[in-house]
Amino acid sequence: MWIGLIFLCVVAAAVAVRRMTALANPPRNAPPQLAALDKSFANKPVLTIVHILPGLVFVTLVPFQFSRSFRNRHLRAHRWMGRLAMTLGLIIGISAIPMSRHPIGGALEASATLFYDGFFLFALTKAFLYIRRRNTVLHREWVIRSMSIALGVATTRPVMGVFFATSRLTGFAPQDFFGIAFWIGFTATYMAGELWIRHTRTPIALDSRPELV
Ligand code: HEM
Repeated sequence: MWIGLIFLCVVAAAVAVRRMTALANPPRNAPPQLAALDKSFANKPVLTIVHILPGLVFVTLVPFQFSRSFRNRHLRAHRWMGRLAMTLGLIIGISAIPMSRHPIGGALEASATLFYDGFFLFALTKAFLYIRRRNTVLHREWVIRSMSIALGVATTRPVMGVFFATSRLTGFAPQDFFGIAFWIGFTATYMAGELWIRHTRTPIALDSRPELV
């Protein structure tokens, strides 16, 4: 679980840093497919930054929030970082709506991002409401659910990598495979998170009464 989590956070951070660098200094000799991608984000620089800068901080915080030893040793910091992560999650989730307006992968990509974005914002709200009621068991479950949805964005990258690498054979351009990659990436990571929740669930988690936790 830890290896997967760290891997996805590193991938997401690397993509965000790469996008920021490309916005600041558009690469001159990028291959045509990448150049088209760069141009599409260069056309909406403010929105892209509003989405990816909080995204970068968010994926940096996630491993600390999941570390039991960090939580036990620095409970106050854990709480503050949790509030920050939820605020950043809201910004990421809300900015993902206009980001889905003219996606490279067309309607199929927009359907994946809007569906999982709605689910992400719902999961984040549930996590917030459960911790307000001091139900740490269900709070934990909804936090894992929301994080696994958000980290799906990183899983799409290796999937896209396979499509890019095989594009000469398949003849697929980014507009053909981005939608498929987003559906695969979000669904696979969400399911991994759901399996993790079920695997680590204690019987008490089924009871949402706050006095029991
Ligand atoms: C539920 C969570 C998220 C949703 C629904 C979402 C949605 C989107 C959408 C719709 C786009 C535009 C894609 C296009 O135009 O084809 C995008 C781009 C991007 N997102 Fe997110 N996003 C989410 C979370 C994150 C997180 C946590 C990060 C962390 C760094 C992130 C980083 C990026 C980056 C770097 C781009 C630019 C893509 C590139 O450079 O290739 N996103 N996102």
